[in-house]
Amino acid sequence: MKQKTSAPGKIILLGEHAAVYGMPAIAVPISTLRSCAAIKAKNIPLTIRSADFAANPDALPNPLERMRALALDYFQIPHPRGEITIRSDIPIARGLGSGAAVSAALGRAIAMLLGRVIPNDVLNRLVFEVEKIHHGTPSGIDNTVVVYERSVYFVKDQPIETLEIKQPLHILIADTGRAALTREAVANVRQLYQRRPIQTQTILKSIGLTVEQARVCIRDGDHVRLGELMTENQQQLQWLNVSSSKLDRLVDSALAAGALGAKLSGGGLGGNMIALVKKSRLNAVNEALIKSGAVSLVATAVK
Ligand code: MEV
Repeated sequence: MKQKTSAPGKIILLGEHAAVYGMPAIAVPISTLRSCAAIKAKNIPLTIRSADFAANPDALPNPLERMRALALDYFQIPHPRGEITIRSDIPIARGLGSGAAVSAALGRAIAMLLGRVIPNDVLNRLVFEVEKIHHGTPSGIDNTVVVYERSVYFVKDQPIETLEIKQPLHILIADTGRAALTREAVANVRQLYQRRPIQTQTILKSIGLTVEQARVCIRDGDHVRLGELMTENQQQLQWLNVSSSKLDRLVDSALAAGALGAKLSGGGLGGNMIALVKKSRLNAVNEALIKSGAVSLVATAVK
């Protein structure tokens, strides 16, 4: 018997970091980029294999071990048998939700191996616990988008709201090639908040307002204004010190090549940027991003 489970990556269209402080954010799953977990019934104590994570097993409290412990505790089965092998197409530490996707795929694989079902609301809660290793103080946005595989207008600790999208959004996702830990970026913003509380709070609130306007534009199909709001959000994120020179360069080149808007996506400090692009400009912006040093590009239509 060999079976598979999976979960998608994600991008944040607007509102990262401010989401940690209760502001709204908008995120969508990227179903073409996935983390997968293959299960094999074997008469050995449950063994989890992952080539990606083995490269750096000691850098973090091990998120795979945490997910295994949480899932087995939920099912009340302390000594299961079998093998799970994880493989992920989602680059690690690039703001694309690889941590949440690996945890979600693993949680589903453990359930499958045990012949049980894990409801999404339970899985979401468990993945959120593992996200604390990745993000320090997560808002819960990554686990929500990845587990439910739904585009969301997200507010921490509020019921999930599905995003209404009138016209497909054509997005290019460009990788700076630099890995960056979300928990470092989140910790930097927290320190900034402690050093300059009034200014930081003003920026966080203005991000919230930008996101609310963007939600209306997505609902009504006003992509020109949406692009402007995304670029405005990039400036707000620059103020929070979570952009980088390479992210800024990619954003500038996308805009110069005719993108409607561009910004970093996820934790920042490296990782990926996204550009909202009219279909007719996709090739031009794609080329400009490669010329400016993007190490890989993914095109997606968010519907
Ligand atoms: C990371 O994808 C998004 C952040 O806002 C952190 C979080 O919300 O948990 C940077």
